[in-house]
Amino acid sequence: MSETREQLEHDVRVGLTDDPPWLPARWFYDEKGSLLFDDITGLPEYYPTRRETEILTAHSSDIVELSGATALVELGAGTSTKTRLLLDAFTAGDRRLLFVPLDISAEVLTHAARTIATDYPTVTVEAHVADFSQELGVLPGPPGRRLVAFLGGTIGNFNTADRAEFFGRLRRAMAIGDHLLLGADLVKDADRLVAAYDDSAGITAAFNRNIIDVVARELGADGLVADDFDHVARWNPHKSQIEMWLRARQDVEAHFPTLGLTWRLPAGGELLTEISVKFTLARLQAELAEGGFRIVQSWTDEAGDFSLSLARAVAGQDR
Ligand code: AVI
Repeated sequence: MSETREQLEHDVRVGLTDDPPWLPARWFYDEKGSLLFDDITGLPEYYPTRRETEILTAHSSDIVELSGATALVELGAGTSTKTRLLLDAFTAGDRRLLFVPLDISAEVLTHAARTIATDYPTVTVEAHVADFSQELGVLPGPPGRRLVAFLGGTIGNFNTADRAEFFGRLRRAMAIGDHLLLGADLVKDADRLVAAYDDSAGITAAFNRNIIDVVARELGADGLVADDFDHVARWNPHKSQIEMWLRARQDVEAHFPTLGLTWRLPAGGELLTEISVKFTLARLQAELAEGGFRIVQSWTDEAGDFSLSLARAVAGQDR
């Protein structure tokens, strides 16, 4: 895992002792969790990845033209089909591009840098290890000519306060005239939303339970077993978010020796592991404006399930 053990200890101490208890979703993604997430993106019920790909297939050249960018900065791994759709559009006619994948994993970046540099001869790759939950510093690339892509709907995994903080921090790392390309899932029928997070093959359930294995293994905890929990996905209409919980099948008593902590959860008690906020375009526009971005254009797929917004970094008075 790329995150530090101290961070996990902190998260467990703070999250599990809260009411209701929670764990940050980043702990899903050990090797097994990352593979399970890849499987999720191909599930019939999980539409976001296909919808975002559909939008990029239709509009990547519009994005290139409207942004006028000569550098593409991608937050998160950069070898996916979606990245390639953007790179194809940027390099049409053998145009040159600076591609800056930012990721917390050096391993992921090495792979991205190699494959992209081989497949796109006019692309210069400048990979950076960076944790975009921390201060970003000034981004690489020519000021005013950068496009920062934050795809996949990951913005929905941040709560309202964290999103505001993230947009502000990102804006400070950018210059006026740079653009943000933001993928965000949209509000829709609750049954479809719940199905997307509680698929019939049980892959999302396995993904959710895996967080228990990660925490137990990394912290050497006793009495913390994934099979003691049921996966629960619920739509919260007040917060416009899907919530993933783990519900104890029986009384749980877990010991964390390095923390001197015993954590108890009675049978039927629940632990929150992830939120996935679903947006309206109006809400996105308002939040982006607050952060210092003005939407130039938003696109959705044919069904109106998912959105991609191109937003320009502006000065305070131009929001
Ligand atoms: C990574 N993120 C955008 C996914 C989502 O849809 O919120 C994580 C996920 N959790 C369960 N399924 C997918």
